[in-house]
Amino acid sequence: MEETLNKEVASRKTFAIISHPDAGKTTITEQLLLFGGAIRQAGTVKGKKTGKFAKSDWMEIEKQRGISVTSSVMQFDYNGKRINILDTPGHEDFSEDTYRTLMAVDSAVMVIDSAKGIEPQTKKLFKVCRMRGIPIFTFINKLDRDGKEPLELISELEEVLEIDAYPMNWPIGMGKGLLGLYDIYHQRVEVHRPEVNGKDGERYAPLNEEGEIEGDHPIKHSTLYDRALEDALLLTEAGNEFSREAIADGELTPVFFGSALTNFGVQTFLETYLEFAPGPSEHVTKEEETVSPYEEKFSGFVFKIQANMNPAHRDRIAFVRICSGRFDRGMDVTLARTDKKMKLSNSTQFMAESRETVQHAVAGDIIGLYDTGNFQIGDTIYEDRLNVHFEDLPQFTPEIFMKVNAKNVMKQKSFHKGVQQLVQEGAIQLYKTYHTGDYIIGAVGQLQFEVFQYRMKNEYNSEVVMTPMGNKIARWIAPEDLDENMSSSRNLLVLDRFDQPLFLFENEFATRWFQDKYPDVALQTLL
Ligand code: G4P
Repeated sequence: MEETLNKEVASRKTFAIISHPDAGKTTITEQLLLFGGAIRQAGTVKGKKTGKFAKSDWMEIEKQRGISVTSSVMQFDYNGKRINILDTPGHEDFSEDTYRTLMAVDSAVMVIDSAKGIEPQTKKLFKVCRMRGIPIFTFINKLDRDGKEPLELISELEEVLEIDAYPMNWPIGMGKGLLGLYDIYHQRVEVHRPEVNGKDGERYAPLNEEGEIEGDHPIKHSTLYDRALEDALLLTEAGNEFSREAIADGELTPVFFGSALTNFGVQTFLETYLEFAPGPSEHVTKEEETVSPYEEKFSGFVFKIQANMNPAHRDRIAFVRICSGRFDRGMDVTLARTDKKMKLSNSTQFMAESRETVQHAVAGDIIGLYDTGNFQIGDTIYEDRLNVHFEDLPQFTPEIFMKVNAKNVMKQKSFHKGVQQLVQEGAIQLYKTYHTGDYIIGAVGQLQFEVFQYRMKNEYNSEVVMTPMGNKIARWIAPEDLDENMSSSRNLLVLDRFDQPLFLFENEFATRWFQDKYPDVALQTLL
């Protein structure tokens, strides 16, 4: 029994794909699902993509996708491994949930558009992965188009993200002139169009000891090949050393080139990724103990709560990352925060095309629990007397802010109740102006405001009026540094929900101005 469990746990690979919108995350996800046989044709995931809807209308988006839960977690089997891909939405539905999803994975795949290089959203998501020290694998996409020079992309990665890079393969040409990939790691050339430029139509051409393609091969007659060979040599001599440990520690990112659209280099990427990607990691408790994924008893934490769209029900889905043991439908667990016992009978598992009732899952997997208001973000659940409390999930510095009031002044009670609950649940962050006590809500993505407004109306019967304040730079200060005269129109003094003081700065300029004026006051961010 224990042996089966260990084997199951060891086969799990749980990761998120991080990228800036349009880099090709959906396309690559689809290719992976196709390899795993989880979908039968391309376009299945894509059709549900939010980007296809012109407006950021959350309700419409959710309705049309049949609630985004289905594509939030995608599971498939490949080469004896069970792979869970967690979606980190971009565009309008970027939110704190997106960041928190990264708390539930064991590694990340970073997709970069070869023509654009590192873009803002990639940078933000990367920072969170880096903070967790999880392995990050890079896929530089769209090689079938002309992009930046590969060497330039590698140095951009190292300079902008401050991570060492190790190219696993190297493009031989690009765009229309793409001939193949010089696969440094596997010591072979992966031919782009074997039927045209492969010898006898073969996909792989092995290298000899000098690193040259063995024998005669059409690709060898191209100057692009000489160039790639030169680059590869330069990189192996002057570049970073390959190190399994550095990859595992998130200090070195293996870089793969390819084209998701033409399905070139994706399978090599997947297979190599599975070789290096870690299985389920240990999790740390508030008592600073670690819980091994191989611990027999079940434990897990809630990292995301998704509101249900059906106004007749208040139910939601709580996403749980299993940290240890096995989940069996109907099992009894304890909710650590309240000590309340509950039966997990209404559970769901996520597939690419459907949601199914999950009967069984193990450490590394994600399950969805139908919830009528029991769970909050960061909650731990555990089996029997395991009695663990996992560390709180980090809070992220909001970037956009709104003033918020109840539309109907007679309904203050339900307004306050709703705000408090949604804040506790992690849907939005709450601040009060220091001088007047006005409510301000903060988020990392616009969608959070829409969800907040919708849920206030539907779950708490409270219509809210929101006045945009735009983007602000939030910086915390130590309470002893607080002087209420420091507040001005360009740096508004507010308190967070733990009564800690912070400023909402108008822009970078205002931040610098403040820092020049009060050089002894340290300004701090959350994550
Ligand atoms: P995202 O999820 O990261 O936002 O990106 P997505 O996969 O939707 O890809 C964004 C656009 O880039 C799509 O084109 C897609 O076809 C294209 N794309 C993805 N991978 C590659 C690639 O390897 N090479 C090339 N040339 N294009 C790629 P679109 O025009 O926005 O969508 P569609 O209308 O063609 O479906």
